[in-house]
Amino acid sequence: MIGVFDSGHGGLTVLHALTERLPREAFTYLGDHGNAPYGRRSEAEIYDLTLAAVERLFAEGCLLVLLACNTASAIALRRLQQGWLPEAAPERRVLGVFVPMVEILAGVSWRDGTKVPGKVSPDGMVAVFATQRTIHSGAYPFEVGLRAPHMRVVSQACPQLVAAIEADEPEQVLRELVAGYVAEMLQQTQGRAPEAAVLGCTHYPLVAQLFAEALPDGVQLLDQPTIVADSLAEYLSRHDRFTAAPQAAGHRRFLTTGDPERVSAFASRFFGAEVTFEKA
Ligand code: DGL
Repeated sequence: MIGVFDSGHGGLTVLHALTERLPREAFTYLGDHGNAPYGRRSEAEIYDLTLAAVERLFAEGCLLVLLACNTASAIALRRLQQGWLPEAAPERRVLGVFVPMVEILAGVSWRDGTKVPGKVSPDGMVAVFATQRTIHSGAYPFEVGLRAPHMRVVSQACPQLVAAIEADEPEQVLRELVAGYVAEMLQQTQGRAPEAAVLGCTHYPLVAQLFAEALPDGVQLLDQPTIVADSLAEYLSRHDRFTAAPQAAGHRRFLTTGDPERVSAFASRFFGAEVTFEKA
């Protein structure tokens, strides 16, 4: 069983891509709606909440947990992988949505530094839109810079966007917010269009169309859920002990630390189909 974790609804956009790409696999989703949004929390809080979620999913029987939240990945992934997992559960794994994005930007594998097909020229420019916390962590420019030192990563925080999406604000409000963040990014580049844009928050696929409208023509929008699903499929092909046993094939379970009724009512917008959450 594979655990998929997000601070709230956003990870459902990733889970949707995973279930399309890997329909036979068994997934348990945990949304920490009771503590969302994470984007404006402190690093210490995000680490503690992410650790608690991983422990919960391990207790559910997940051998592999994917942090389907860029904020949690940027703050907690390295520390969990290097400082906690080797002692706590050496046979289990924690992955993060952030890693395949870095690989595809830099054109370099995270695991062994070999070349993989990249989506941006080695000396090109890419814009990353994400929560305040992800941007302030500096994780995207740092990790891309290690692997593609000539690439320019322009970081743009979108502090109000997750809350506005969660609040189901009217499209015009969302459009204006997105246009404002794109304009701020273009100010940073003195009007030069980046080669590609990363929506580095799992909530943003819901407003991908608004980003496409606001960005200059020709900027490629990298679709994180699809990229993560391809990467997980490749990972499972190398680690078949994490794939579902025949009796568990296709299993889906949805847990929330929030109010299951409220969360279920809103979830189909993110997942693309009705889902019923249980209290975690
Ligand atoms: N969906 C999360 C991400 O990918 C952030 C949402 C939040 O601020 O809790 O960064």
